[in-house]
Amino acid sequence: MTNETKTVNKPRKRLEDLRSQRWFAPDDMRSFAHRQRLQQMGLRREEFMTRPVIAIINTWSDLSPCHAHLRERADAVRRGILAAGGIPFELPAMSLGEVMVKPTTMIYRNFLAMESEELLRSLPIDGAVLMGGCDKTTPGLLMGALSADLPCLFVPAGPMLNDRHRGLAVGAGTHTKKFWDEYQAGNIEQSEWIALEARMTRAPGTCNTMGTASTMTSIVEAMGFTLPGATSIPAMDAAHPRMASQAGERIVDMVWEDLKPSTFFNERSVANGIATYMALGGSTNAAIHLIAIAGRGGVKLTLDDLHRQGEGVPVLANVFPSGDRLMEDFYYAGGLPALLNQIREHLDLDCLTVTGKTLGENIADIPNVDPTTVRPLDNPVTQGRALAVLRGNLAPSGAVIKPSAASDKFLKHEGPALVFDSIAEMNRRIHDPELDVDENTVLVLRGGGPLGAPGMPEWGNLPIPKKLLAAGVRDMVRLSDARMSGTHYGTCVLHIAPEAAAGGPLALIRTGDIVVLDVAAGRLDMRVSDEELARRRAEWTPPPGTRQRGYTKLYVEHVKQADEGCDFDFLMGHETPVEPAIF
Ligand code: FES
Repeated sequence: MTNETKTVNKPRKRLEDLRSQRWFAPDDMRSFAHRQRLQQMGLRREEFMTRPVIAIINTWSDLSPCHAHLRERADAVRRGILAAGGIPFELPAMSLGEVMVKPTTMIYRNFLAMESEELLRSLPIDGAVLMGGCDKTTPGLLMGALSADLPCLFVPAGPMLNDRHRGLAVGAGTHTKKFWDEYQAGNIEQSEWIALEARMTRAPGTCNTMGTASTMTSIVEAMGFTLPGATSIPAMDAAHPRMASQAGERIVDMVWEDLKPSTFFNERSVANGIATYMALGGSTNAAIHLIAIAGRGGVKLTLDDLHRQGEGVPVLANVFPSGDRLMEDFYYAGGLPALLNQIREHLDLDCLTVTGKTLGENIADIPNVDPTTVRPLDNPVTQGRALAVLRGNLAPSGAVIKPSAASDKFLKHEGPALVFDSIAEMNRRIHDPELDVDENTVLVLRGGGPLGAPGMPEWGNLPIPKKLLAAGVRDMVRLSDARMSGTHYGTCVLHIAPEAAAGGPLALIRTGDIVVLDVAAGRLDMRVSDEELARRRAEWTPPPGTRQRGYTKLYVEHVKQADEGCDFDFLMGHETPVEPAIF
């Protein structure tokens, strides 16, 4: 370990060094207009001429239930900014409520990243507080902020509170899927199913299982972008606005300290994010987002790096879907700092964070008060790892699976493929009583990738045919080029790359071909000869794309495959930000 990222005793910026002074300080007609227009809103000249200008980029909206509280929470951030001598300006940004946005929020992650970057670049901003948490908002905001490279600090929305149903703790996502399967199997009545609509999602906040939201916010905390422990605080706990206010105070100091992402984000902070991801038993979606975030910070990360660096870090967070608790329990156990303390030997504790201190300093003296929820290294939640990368003649550029949320008996499996060319075809046929399918069949869905869908929706947790549900089957091997909700579970091979629509071998598999899955060996193959595959390829024609316009057209023309993080080709990598000309 080294401590080369520590920046101690760094000289503080002077007022004239602030970026916002480029807009406000010159004695010319353009700057006159900038000053005039802020005074038009009732601001005094001194308020913006003598203080750091802090943006609060807020992904609140009336149709984003996980962020329903962020409108008021921005007031707590403002309080902190003002107390520390900054001047806050709240900037709304695209609000990606995971469940509401169609066809999928994933298509808009890059939109939010572009919007965040351009907001920060085009306006007189010295530093920013980023407010988000629902799945794609965290990577979207971070990707944009890394590209803009201004001092920034992330305020996570926080998980929703636990709920109870018939005496059992229930949470979002995972339990919806469980109850749906029981409803389909005829084990619960329609009246109970309707009653459940008002349960599980008890209050504003992000999903309270270890879905993509809590996975991503926790990774971002481990990489140094939040105040210590911020991501585990329930959205509706009074500690949450206190954290938001403290974040507002801290960002002002970060501006004076010139603590930009490029001063502390590097390979070692990404490695900390990977170790945390594994210990969380986090969502498979993080494999895509981490690669994209790392790339924006100039860190080249591959699926193989993820697999290798995650080796040996067991799942310690006993939270659904890998475990049996919820995020509120995780918070009571000490939250993420308690987990990070359990995996100290897998972390680079010298990495600098937004606090101006190292990760090790941030997590010192945080007790683990419930070792049944935050497990010690010698008593993991499962033997299965959080993420395994597969390759083979079905996935030459890679695919992922979450062994910790899969059935052990299927981790090595051979079975005949049942192939669906589209989600529409699958929905039409999957519950047909005549469908030729049993527990050993491998369900295959293609057309769900970044180009094929387009946008790579969460279709990868293919439904179990009703007739098998009724017979007691609850898991099968499923393959797709789509993603899966982080709250879901099952033996689902996801993100197969290249996707079928890009001409990957997934496009060539046919019903009846034997699929061979061997997770321990890292293999995903179809037992079809090279000659036969060549023959099928010669016959293959790309699926006719659907007509696109506007942003979606830009998306399909520039999105990269899952193994490269699904970023746009023209936004990948890190460059010194270009400051706008002010004329
Ligand atoms: Fe927003 Fe799950 S739907 S975090």
